[in-house]
Amino acid sequence: MSQLTIALTKGRILRETLPLLSGAGIEPAEDIESSRKLIFDTSRPGVRLLILRGSDVPTYVQYGSADLGVSGKDTLMEHGGDGFYEPLDLRIARCRLMTAGVAGGSRARGRIKVATKYVNVARRFYAEEGRQADIIKLYGAMELAPLMDLADEIVDIVDTGNTLRANGLEPRQTIADISSRLIVNKAAMKMKHSLIQPLLEELAGALAERQT
Ligand code: PRP
Repeated sequence: MSQLTIALTKGRILRETLPLLSGAGIEPAEDIESSRKLIFDTSRPGVRLLILRGSDVPTYVQYGSADLGVSGKDTLMEHGGDGFYEPLDLRIARCRLMTAGVAGGSRARGRIKVATKYVNVARRFYAEEGRQADIIKLYGAMELAPLMDLADEIVDIVDTGNTLRANGLEPRQTIADISSRLIVNKAAMKMKHSLIQPLLEELAGALAERQT
């Protein structure tokens, strides 16, 4: 039987995606959050879930190792969009991708240093703004960088703003509004159309029901 493989990430995306999948009749066969396994069967024969690092979801879908995936728009913007379609905005895990700096600090002039894990997004954004920026790649705790003089600004996800505030930083410019998207491998969309199209319709239906 032809398999459908859906790539997900533990945490907020998983928590908010499972009810949508459930609305489409797909329930994991066991509790994913408490398991160390990486592949899970579901209540729907032939449909399995992969649990990946967020930044690996577009890679698995791009190469067709997963047919579908759920990925934050921030991750997709950073990764680039080759090899997959983005047919559905799931409107979950919403936040903003922003620049931030020391609260009350004046905006640095001339060439600035920007710390972020979103190096491609940051490079594009500052270039479009006409600001010269040296981009410094970090893997976490971006908020420390301006405090320790590693950078003038950071580019990071802001939800409540609590993390910025707790570290004496302020949000500055919004780069993009973020939510999670369903992505589909381009070849799978053709080859497995009879499996994928109904699932897209069921998910769109579950989303519409949530709106009302
Ligand atoms: C994100 C981001 C901030 C925080 C913002 O981190 O990097 O640290 O959330 O949320 P807030 O505005 O509500 O405080 P996340 O917890 O997703 O983990 P990460 O550092 O692994 O990205």
